[in-house]
Amino acid sequence: MHHAVPRTFVGTATPDALFEPCTLGGGMRLRNRIVLAPCTRNRALPDLSPTPGAGAYYAERAEAGLLITEAVMVCREAQGYLDTPGVFLDSHVGAWAAVADAVHRAGGLIFMQLWHTGRMAHSHWTGVPPVAPSAVLDPILRRQAGGLTLYNEMPRAMSDQDIRQTIADYRAAAVRAGQAGFDGVEIHAANGYLAEQFLRRHTNRRTDAWGGSAANRSRFTLEVVAACCDALGAARVGLRLSPAAYFSEMKWSEGDNETYLYLLEQLRAATLAYLHCGIVEDDPVEYLGGTTGEFLRRHWNGVLVGNGGYTPDAANARVAAGAFDLMAFGKLFIANPDLVHRVRTGQQLKPYARELLDLLR
Ligand SMILES: Cc1cc2nc3c(=O)[nH]c(=O)nc-3n(C[C@H](O)[C@H](O)[C@H](O)COP(=O)(O)O)c2cc1C
Repeated sequence: MHHAVPRTFVGTATPDALFEPCTLGGGMRLRNRIVLAPCTRNRALPDLSPTPGAGAYYAERAEAGLLITEAVMVCREAQGYLDTPGVFLDSHVGAWAAVADAVHRAGGLIFMQLWHTGRMAHSHWTGVPPVAPSAVLDPILRRQAGGLTLYNEMPRAMSDQDIRQTIADYRAAAVRAGQAGFDGVEIHAANGYLAEQFLRRHTNRRTDAWGGSAANRSRFTLEVVAACCDALGAARVGLRLSPAAYFSEMKWSEGDNETYLYLLEQLRAATLAYLHCGIVEDDPVEYLGGTTGEFLRRHWNGVLVGNGGYTPDAANARVAAGAFDLMAFGKLFIANPDLVHRVRTGQQLKPYARELLDLLR
């Protein structure tokens, strides 16, 4: 009964669960079960390449079984936040190759998270209105851009051709990530961004092949998965989902569970590297019939990565209990580049503070 384990549980049953090796779907071997969660760093150069310091930032954390990069944009129109990097120009490949190389030299493995913000993109950066499955505004999210407060803009509903082009952009991004030497890609279909905007009734009001039924709402994510698998092989593709509708005015509607169940059923045919819980609180969600982790475990037969507010002790207990195969840490890994070493040797962790982000390389 893993859901009975409190989050602050100091595990003694299998204290080294996080340090057992793990095999991803398709066979990639990880030396431990600690994952760097994808965390946006707002540090890209004006051409949207990662900074020269990015290699050192990731290499410092390379003792993790797997690193996942900050979200990386698949096209120019994907940008919704300040100084986020891209992988849509050939010139981005060299900069990312330096990151992959630094991580590999430090003995690590690294996946690139592929991202399109959809309705959370902003013309301040892209020069064009945001695109989304349907013209549904998120009235809440705002962000800062060099002294300006930017509010969301009404998105334009994508044409069939826009959708096809965006899937092609994901494919090209996966190819470039492979050229840069990344071990794989994680498709960001969580946290209210474009792929999740297709999955949910609230943001997808389409009546064509991309909306209406569970199969149609799943189509975009499944086609992106297929395109990335085609580019790199399924063993090098992970997927992040947040079925608990958590972020950015992303409302759960009747019928959304049906979409996630359909999606997960379709995904069972492809041996993806892993499935990753997006931002979650480890509390039961009524409409999922348990926690997000329990929901995904029940309906997914592959490797499952947990994430969301876990201390190393709680994570260890969850992995020991079989609730998750791997555990991703975000804030604690930002605050403690040597997180893996500290966990292994039982040292105190430095607490996370928002201001730490201003000090990143
Ligand atoms: C500064 C920051 C940036 C983040 N950027 C991303 C991102 O680019 N992609 C993503 O999927 N999640 C992102 N997240 C969410 C984290 O991956 C993670 O789900 C969340 O922080 C909860 O895990 P934690 O409690 O271990 O930090 C971000 C979180 C933080 C704090």
